[in-house]
Formats: sequence, C-alpha cells, structure tokens
Amino acid sequence: MNEKPLPLVLVTHTLPPAWLESLQGRCLQIVGPEDATFLAPELEANLAEAEGLFTLLTIRVSDELLDKMPRLRVVSNMAVGVDNIDLAACTRRGIPVGNTPGVLTEGTADLTMALLLAAGRGLATSSQDARQGRWKTWRPAGWLGADLNGATLGIIGMGKIGQAVAQRARGFGMKIIYTDTIPRPNVPADRVSLDELLAGSDFVSLHVPLLAETRGLINEAALRKMKPGAYLINAARGPIVDTPALVRALREGWIAGCGLDVTDPEPLPPDHALYSFPNCLIVPHIGSATWNTRRRMAELACDNLLAGLAGRPLPNCVNPEVQK
Ligand code: GLV
Repeated sequence: MNEKPLPLVLVTHTLPPAWLESLQGRCLQIVGPEDATFLAPELEANLAEAEGLFTLLTIRVSDELLDKMPRLRVVSNMAVGVDNIDLAACTRRGIPVGNTPGVLTEGTADLTMALLLAAGRGLATSSQDARQGRWKTWRPAGWLGADLNGATLGIIGMGKIGQAVAQRARGFGMKIIYTDTIPRPNVPADRVSLDELLAGSDFVSLHVPLLAETRGLINEAALRKMKPGAYLINAARGPIVDTPALVRALREGWIAGCGLDVTDPEPLPPDHALYSFPNCLIVPHIGSATWNTRRRMAELACDNLLAGLAGRPLPNCVNPEVQK
C-alpha cells in the first residue's frame, strides 16, 4: 500500500532542534539560516510545493508570496504579533494563521520592567562610565535617576502583557493609569484618555499591537504632551512610535529618556541618530528572549502548524473565520 507522502514545510529560520521535536516524522522540512531577514533561496525554490510555512516576525508574508504558494494550508508565526503577515490575503485564500499568545506574557513584562528601571536609573551609561574609568568617587549628585515608588505608569494597551506589567509595577509602588479600546474592569487602575495619560505619566509604556490605528500613535504631538521628566518604554512594535519625532524629542529634551526593545526600522542601523543619545537605551527586540519562553513559543507554533496540516482548528488562530 502506498503511504501518503509527508507534507512539505518551509521553516524560515534554523532553531534549536529540540524546539521543533514534535515535527519529526510528521512533515518534511526545508530550513533557512539562523539570522534570515528574507526567504532563503532554498526556500524560494520550493514555494510551489510547500503546504506549511513556519515563520518568524522578520519575514514578510505578503500577498505576492502567497501567490507563489498554491498548496499552502497553514502559516504559523512564532510570535504573538502578526503584523509581518498579510492577514487579509491569507483569509481570502482560506489559510489559517497561527500565533503564540500567552507564553511570552511574563517574559515580555519582565523585560519591560527591566527597561523601565534601566532607563529611569541610567544603567547603560553609568555601567559604561564605571568600565571606562569615569568612576572616580561616590558622587552625591552623579548618575541621578527617577524613582519608581510613587511614580505614575501610563500603560497604553491593557491586554495580557499590559496587565502583567501593571502587576509588577504595583509591586514597585507605582500608580497605574491606562488607555485601551475596551474597559478592563478587573484591573485596579484608572482608564483615562490618551492625552490624560501622556500628560500625567512619569513612565509611558506601550503594549498595543501594530495596526493601522496604532502606527505612529506616539508622534510629535504625543511626545510633546509627555512630561519633560518622563520616560517612554516600547517593548511592543517599533512603528507605534514615529522615530524622527522621537529623535527630535530626545535632542530637544521634551522627555527625559526612553527604553526601546523595538525600533523602526528594525534592526536599527549602527549609525542611527537614536544611538547618539545616552538617555536612549536600545536592546535588540529581546522581550521574549528567555530559554523557557522562546522554547514554548516554538512548541506552540509547531502545534499550530501540525493542526493546520491535519486540517484541524489551530490552537491559536488569528483569523478563526477560515476555520468555520
Ligand atoms: C514578539 O515580538 C512577538 O510578537 O512575539
């Protein structure tokens, strides 16, 4: 009896093999390099045959790419954000798209707090000063930063990650206010307008997805509304902040500083103006980068992929209408 051939899956990046264990024996894989920013040629050459796509947020899954993949039955993104994927184009073709919510909530909230603390206390510059011989004595008025205790944290987007950040921030004695498209009655914090949040916060932290409505949300007008002593924290998506406006804000001192896990563009070129400001802390999109979190994201992405290949509903699907 002829066995059904295994479906072909394109895995855009090399990942630790243990993370993809559940795919073994269930599909054939063609795997791209570890640091791919575009589809590797060996993947391009097999687009027509592929039935599954396991991808990361650095790969654009466009209408044009989907046109070249007539046999595609599932797109599995190893990320909670899916702004790299043309969702409407997938939905039109009846292709379910999976993401990895939940498992990265705590890791991303931890990193947000790390940015908040590091930006507020100037850790990047003070550490550099220590290493480079500028630590001459205990300076009573040197390396001064902001207190968290008693400060107001404005959270833009009180979803899972926003709530996890709020929980941590309360432990630091911060007062929380937030904006969201919907009220969050279980969250012990005041929902305010965006203008009130910007004007009233000592730290503003972004936790909304990148959508047409949130692109450029933090523009020049928004930055000018922030307190001059306030810090902007972004561990969501780079384009939520208007980068040229942020550069002006730092140059002209409209805000005290920022902590960025994400930027626009990404990666940020080494000669970018944002790197010239000592009060602008930038880390390379590491919100979910803990061993545990990244492995769980990969496993969840495998579960979504295998479900899609088997014609079952994806455990986490961002366009569930195609599964009805
Ligand atoms: C990371 O940024 C993600 O969306 O999972």
